[in-house]
Amino acid sequence: MEEFFGSKKYKTANAKVSESCPSNIALIKYWGKYENQIPANPSISYTLSQCKTNTEIEFLADEKFSVQTFLSSTEEKKFAEKIEKYFKNIEAFLPWILKGKYIIRTENTFPHSSGIASSASGFGAIAKCLMEVDDLFCGKAEEDFKLKKASFLARLGSGSACRSLYNGLVVWGETKEVEASSDLFAVAFPSKDIHSIFKNFNDWVLLIHEGEKSVSSTVGHGLMTTNPYAERRFQEAHENFSTLKEILKVGDLKRFIQLVEHEALTLHAMMMMSEPAFILMKTGTLAVINKIWDFRKETDLPLFFTLDAGANVHLLFPRNKDEDKIKEFIIKELLQHTQNNGVVKDVMRF
Ligand code: DP6
Repeated sequence: MEEFFGSKKYKTANAKVSESCPSNIALIKYWGKYENQIPANPSISYTLSQCKTNTEIEFLADEKFSVQTFLSSTEEKKFAEKIEKYFKNIEAFLPWILKGKYIIRTENTFPHSSGIASSASGFGAIAKCLMEVDDLFCGKAEEDFKLKKASFLARLGSGSACRSLYNGLVVWGETKEVEASSDLFAVAFPSKDIHSIFKNFNDWVLLIHEGEKSVSSTVGHGLMTTNPYAERRFQEAHENFSTLKEILKVGDLKRFIQLVEHEALTLHAMMMMSEPAFILMKTGTLAVINKIWDFRKETDLPLFFTLDAGANVHLLFPRNKDEDKIKEFIIKELLQHTQNNGVVKDVMRF
């Protein structure tokens, strides 16, 4: 299958391309991987709309291979090293990639410290740019193929990035529940199988803790290799896919909430049961979760949460007649648990 994305004849020239790619938030989490960025279980995410990375790549042909990167106009040498390594890693799929010098300018529309996955939107945008350059050097490819290959390349940069290439609900990792799903790239979950209630959703990210995460994704994924509960977790992710597929079809919001929160807590439980152990929640995270549960009990309104591998809380709620009451509650009761009144307001992109 990988040969499908393999090398072609090319002719290089100076080039400049720019692309934009949104971030995504997983509902069934990817946590644990094998060699070559193969996920240990299938995952599914919502693609966001406001939280994006805009990237411009300038390619100078015939110069010695090197990468220079700027994040919001500031040179980032560490990031350049990472990209250099990434480019060397994908040469089999883009044979021209080491034949010139790169100047990469990138900016995120969301705060750097927000814990919103900048690696997902970042590698998504880079992969899209690379496919634009590939078109210039190898001849125009079909749009479908380009998207699939961009997702394939993004995965090799950061696993969750491969899901950011598509809108709506997006699946990465082979599962019998989704036709054409693959460990190598993401596919869009068929829109016809999604009830309308799930097509119009808010995601407000409460910035409980800004700054460096206590554990990087790379280390986190690695800890799953020795976690005694890992196999059961991978199996459960598969089971959750079957359940979610049915929930999405019939529009069962109650069970959706239950499943999504369970997934988030499982991710954190896995980290607590790792060796060494990590507790990624902060006091504010717990306070917010408890308030959400009380609020749901009292009002029966559909406000719920998911978490990434960090302390911040993604607040999920449908965009409908109830959303104003929910927003009021968030501002009045939940915002006080953030570090600097930080909240990033986004909606799902369908
Ligand atoms: C908790 O995609 O950041 O956000 O493949 O090592 O770059 P790498 O990991 P990354 O892991 C994301 C983990 C997660 C869950 C998810 O997005 O599915």
